[in-house]
Amino acid sequence: MASVKTLAQSQDLKSLPSDYTHFKNQHKSVEASPEVGIPVIDFALLTSSNLDHRAKAIHDLGKACEEWGFFMVVNHEIPETLTNPLFDACDEFFDLPEEEKQRFQTKNPRFPFMVRSTIGAEHEKVLFWRDYFRFFVHPEFYCPDKPQQFNDLVSEYAEKTRVLARKLLQGISQSLGLEEDYIEKAMDLDKTTQIFAANYYPPCPDPESAIGIPPHTDHGLLTFLLQNGVGGLEIQHEGKWFHLNAIPGSIFVNTGDQLEIVSNGKYKSVWHRAVVNNSKKRISLVIPNGPSPDTIVAPAEPLLKDAPAKYSPMGYLEYVEVQRTTRPPQKPILDRLK
Ligand code: SIN
Ligand code: FE2
Repeated sequence: MASVKTLAQSQDLKSLPSDYTHFKNQHKSVEASPEVGIPVIDFALLTSSNLDHRAKAIHDLGKACEEWGFFMVVNHEIPETLTNPLFDACDEFFDLPEEEKQRFQTKNPRFPFMVRSTIGAEHEKVLFWRDYFRFFVHPEFYCPDKPQQFNDLVSEYAEKTRVLARKLLQGISQSLGLEEDYIEKAMDLDKTTQIFAANYYPPCPDPESAIGIPPHTDHGLLTFLLQNGVGGLEIQHEGKWFHLNAIPGSIFVNTGDQLEIVSNGKYKSVWHRAVVNNSKKRISLVIPNGPSPDTIVAPAEPLLKDAPAKYSPMGYLEYVEVQRTTRPPQKPILDRLK
């Protein structure tokens, strides 16, 4: 079966094929930007030696996690001289012939989904307007050897985002009243599970009826997202959907299910989705950062002095597997852990 990209480019495509038209009028959303309160975290303040600056950034971080489950990070020290070529390399990968892309598919039993470029989703009758690939980059590193430089770029980006994740999680630990290194120790971040994923959303003939990714929460601790200047990510906040406009150069961060568990429900993982448009291709680069594969995730012990545990402990990889095979997908599994 052809990719969505091939479908979108075919001369015969006059209207959206019916397999994709299941979302009519479900996409009402509000434009969101820092002016309407989308949190912005200044990484330079968070890592500043000025204690007041740092305390303010930690406070802002906690508020962002508690109220939105989402924030944009500015001054994050990951240069565009790295991310621009990375976007180009992903674009090139999507351009490879289907057989070539499938050649990179691996079936490592520990990390079963490594790389693929597919149409829609395997388990749904409804198809999504997205091609994607993803593979684990930590603690084991995997990357296709094509296009040239891809391996080096992904490796450097993954390393830099690991530093960013650790520093943000230090701030988040403190915002919960925990020791700075509580989360990194409890989640064994030296062996953090990192996935590199790239999504490709071609222009869609009927964006109101299709969807790129339906509403879901992410399974890890924090997910980072960069996009090629084209919007599409929406998050749910107080019952409304917000369409996110990025501050140029910022990284989007959303909270995941394991952070909800560790924080004993204080920082809820955020529901989000990707919508599509009819004029511009959108590429998003996504890095979910999770505990080590062997971590048993449970609410932080010190938080249980004031409140009973709201979730039962569960192995991270087991969680991922149950979440992956639960339909409808994702968050209901957190309810089952209660
Ligand atoms: C995702 O949720 O994995 C990606 C959403 C996006 O591409 O904006
Ligand atoms: Fe997601």
